[in-house]
Amino acid sequence: MAIIVGGVGTTHVPAIGKAIAEKKHNDPYWKPFFKGFDYVHYWLARTKPDVAVVFYNDHGLNFFLDKLPTFAIGAANEYRSEDEGWGIPVSRPIPGDAGLSWHLINALVADEFDVTMCQEMLIDHAVTIPMALIWPGPAWPIKIVPIEINTVQHPLPSLERCLKLGRSVGRAIESYKQDLRTVIIGTGGLSHQLDGQRAGFINKEFDRLCLDKIVAEPDALTGYSIHDWIKESGSQGVEFLNWMAMRGALTGRVSELNRNYHIPISNTAAATVVYDTESGAARQAA
Ligand SMILES: [Fe+2]
Repeated sequence: MAIIVGGVGTTHVPAIGKAIAEKKHNDPYWKPFFKGFDYVHYWLARTKPDVAVVFYNDHGLNFFLDKLPTFAIGAANEYRSEDEGWGIPVSRPIPGDAGLSWHLINALVADEFDVTMCQEMLIDHAVTIPMALIWPGPAWPIKIVPIEINTVQHPLPSLERCLKLGRSVGRAIESYKQDLRTVIIGTGGLSHQLDGQRAGFINKEFDRLCLDKIVAEPDALTGYSIHDWIKESGSQGVEFLNWMAMRGALTGRVSELNRNYHIPISNTAAATVVYDTESGAARQAA
């Protein structure tokens, strides 16, 4: 049976891709951010996942404003990226696990999440940058199932809806008959706003509250409407929806193993976390 070994949350700012390409890991500006991944690499070397289910939002590479699904799942054996215009190298293709994708799609539709199924889907920096940060080696040691959430064009799904989506994904993974070790990844955020009068807005206190609550009380965050969230976290801070889905997919009691919070990366509050699950820890020890 498939198991969930835990979760990783990380920011996906495009400038990170340029810093990786230019090997700026020890540059004083970047070092406090990149150091946050030392624990992620240590934890992955112990937990050895086979598949990553990645919750992210597309920024106009695969979907555009003319056709934008609320939830979309990749069902391909390989995912390519393309030049998005940020001046960062195009990622090499990432292998997909189409078998797990179709299992998740069947389970989600049965659970009344009417997802868009994508047998071809370009992945943008919201997938490729976290993947390069989490697995920095020359070859991908893992397959992915990308799950896209609309955080761009209103109306957006609620925090509660994304938490429930994640919970449905978590149940579906644990009903998959194949022996697979799965890690759940949520990308984006935390507080930031790229446009308008509040461009550059960051809310450290609110980010801390979110990082505290999401571990043991994620439902407490569902009281915020999307508009409340934008007030507190900035117009792009709604990318936290991806984190809510990631957290929802973590079954059993969840604990925070590591947290790195750093301001600023570009104009964003950057966070990197690792979450353990009771079920994952128990099965690792067995
Ligand atoms: Fe983004």
